[in-house]
Amino acid sequence: MSEPAIGVFDSGLGGLTAVKELKKVLPQENIIYFGDTARVPYGTRSETTILRYARQDADFLLSKGVKLIIAACGTVSSVATELYDTLPVPYTGVVIPTANAAADATKNGRIGIIGTPATVKSCSYKREILRSNNRISVYQQACPLFVPLVENGFISRDDEIVRLTVERYLKDLKDAGIDTLILGCTHFPIIADAISDYLGRGVTLIDSGKETALFAANILGSRGILSRSGEKGECRYFVSDTVEGFSKTAEIFLGSSDGISVKHIDI
Ligand code: DGL
Repeated sequence: MSEPAIGVFDSGLGGLTAVKELKKVLPQENIIYFGDTARVPYGTRSETTILRYARQDADFLLSKGVKLIIAACGTVSSVATELYDTLPVPYTGVVIPTANAAADATKNGRIGIIGTPATVKSCSYKREILRSNNRISVYQQACPLFVPLVENGFISRDDEIVRLTVERYLKDLKDAGIDTLILGCTHFPIIADAISDYLGRGVTLIDSGKETALFAANILGSRGILSRSGEKGECRYFVSDTVEGFSKTAEIFLGSSDGISVKHIDI
């Protein structure tokens, strides 16, 4: 890579939904992605473990000379907040940009948040929403089964398991009359169709990957470190578990069948 890359990490493949958006918003940027597939999921683990994993993930990206690090993981963004103060390069998680977008989007002042158990327990999105407007009512729901469903390819809006799981988790939010829902885990945009089918068109879904890509573009722009190459950026992928099957699944997350090459690393 001729220019420093943006480093992106997640516990697994979910962060690729953010990479997809980054490629749209910043097509000229190089990207290095690390998915900690050997240790996914993070969302059911303790805060101490999540923080330790997140530090190791960020260290791997720093060893590649990245100029910005994005935790494309709702769980890390919610729990490992000390990364904001301790990394030697600019850093962002997904919570702040996503919460602000939701606060701007709601019309009836009722926002739902779905995420992993660790994310919901942290109240990270809720705190940020109330910081921008404390009159908003916020309803949270942990959805621990969504991550394994997605990682195992159960993603179709017509799949009965997906539909029933969505209904079970989202019923209370629907009954609460939300008009905006934060997909607070980067795995969840993959089942956005099924979520939207259940909640109806009147509910706006806020995708954390998309909002974070826009936020990252602002960080790079304001610091004067946008790529000047004028050419299409390159993407390199690393995982901590087997590379077998990665390309096929990654294509689902990235929504493209461009050749994807991936390397295994020991974290
Ligand atoms: N993509 C991660 C998140 O946003 C997945 C969660 C997990 O590893 O449990 O939270």
